[in-house]
Amino acid sequence: MKRKKITVLTGAGISAESGIATFRGSDGLWEGHDIMEVASPQGWQKDRELVLHFYNERRKAARKAEPNQGHLILAELEKDYDVTIITQNVDNLHERAGSSNIIHLHGQLFQSRSTLDESLVYDMESDVINIGDKCEKGSQLRPHIVWFGEDVPLMEKAAEITEQSDIFIVVGTSLQVYPAANLIHFTPSRCKSYLIDPKIPENVDLRNIELIEKGGSEGLELLRKILTKS
Ligand code: APR
Repeated sequence: MKRKKITVLTGAGISAESGIATFRGSDGLWEGHDIMEVASPQGWQKDRELVLHFYNERRKAARKAEPNQGHLILAELEKDYDVTIITQNVDNLHERAGSSNIIHLHGQLFQSRSTLDESLVYDMESDVINIGDKCEKGSQLRPHIVWFGEDVPLMEKAAEITEQSDIFIVVGTSLQVYPAANLIHFTPSRCKSYLIDPKIPENVDLRNIELIEKGGSEGLELLRKILTKS
């Protein structure tokens, strides 16, 4: 029998149980910083040192974190389904949990890239980027992260995969950031969709999506049981 295709859209909430902070905390700050200061081209122009330091700290935190049960369940689903993870997260916890098909819509923390030629992307050898670290063409390296206002080059691929889904699962995203949030509208009519979040996002059209108001691990455990029965 043909294996069903599962597409999973994850956000910061899937990594919350691994100790990595989500973005939209109640104080509107991300680890004490205004999000635009550290995650926008304007912030980068204004203070490169601050931005590099900020991501150097994020790498340190991500190194210490371990995949949680939610990441592991998603990896285990590959035994029975063709699974693609579309993540907004820049950490590598899906990889470390064993998932094999991962699209990092917003880039990757452990990669750097040229500020001159964005096709020059490097796996980082150390966990820091410093002022003066240069690409092969001589320009400053920056984090390989999609910042606010920048294009999302993998969006088209993500939309195509979503269009092929039999089952679509959304975990741990506030669905406030576009174009990623639009993916929920790309599922075909035959597709069964689920959303897992301890706080169901507001002001989002969630018709035809089954809502599981739980944390990532608990919600995915429950969903695994639902899928086994169906
Ligand atoms: N399990 C699952 N979800 C959780 C958990 C948990 N244990 N704890 C919190 N959440 C949920 C929150 O309720 C919220 O809906 O995770 C979501 C996190 O939302 P955001 O912080 O807005 O993160 P995300 O949606 O991933 O942000 C999208 O915005 O800052 C940019 O580029 C950045 O990729 C990021 C994008």
